[in-house]
Amino acid sequence: MNHSIVETKIGLMGVLIAIVISFGGLVEIVPLFFTSQVTEPAEGVEPYGALELAGRDIYIREGCYGCHSQMIRPFRSETERYGHYSLGGESVYDSPFQFGSKRTGPDLARVGGRYADEWHRVHLINPRDVVPESNMPGYPWLAEHEVNARNTVKHMLALKTLGQPYTDEQIAAAENEVSGKTEMEALIAYLQGLGTNMQGRR
Ligand code: HEC
Repeated sequence: MNHSIVETKIGLMGVLIAIVISFGGLVEIVPLFFTSQVTEPAEGVEPYGALELAGRDIYIREGCYGCHSQMIRPFRSETERYGHYSLGGESVYDSPFQFGSKRTGPDLARVGGRYADEWHRVHLINPRDVVPESNMPGYPWLAEHEVNARNTVKHMLALKTLGQPYTDEQIAAAENEVSGKTEMEALIAYLQGLGTNMQGRR
């Protein structure tokens, strides 16, 4: 009897559906307010070094996230291929995060150390030289342009304002660390760092 009231009054049904759905959302969201798991860095996770940070900017500029995720889900099919599933505490210094939602290529969350720097260099210039069936585009220009060191310093200062624990010495050393480096070198440094601080969990 009550049921038929709900089923014939579409407005009431809409309100009830909204309540049920928000309850589901709250059950997922509210516990996160009370745990440090997603706000504190996981063990061994440090802010990006200057060259890695510069490389990360290039990763974002070139839209690599359009084909690559950095988020290993807790399923056997994923952990056997990529390694330990991603933890919230690994992304604390990722702003903006690069989880991605499209996997034309493999997940990159733990690609660091999987290949040699030279493999990455050849692969980024023309992926088909190392993976003949690859449909990833080449990025040869990265080897011809130098990183803008002053932008990297400004980026670090901005992240420090946001609360990332960069020391004054790290920021002072940043310009020297990246100047003269090519965008290719920076991007490879970034890729080689991905997931390495969690190596023990692989
Ligand atoms: C159009 C989609 C596409 C874009 C854009 C793209 N990739 Fe890929 N990527 C792929 C595919 C497909 C593969 C697998 C074949 C291969 O290794 O080339 C791949 C493989 C890779 C691998 C090897 C991963 C592994 O575990 O074997 C790395 C590293 C990589 N890409 C980095 C990048 C970076 C960095 C960028 C941006 C500069 C980028 N990709 C942009 C599609 C893409």
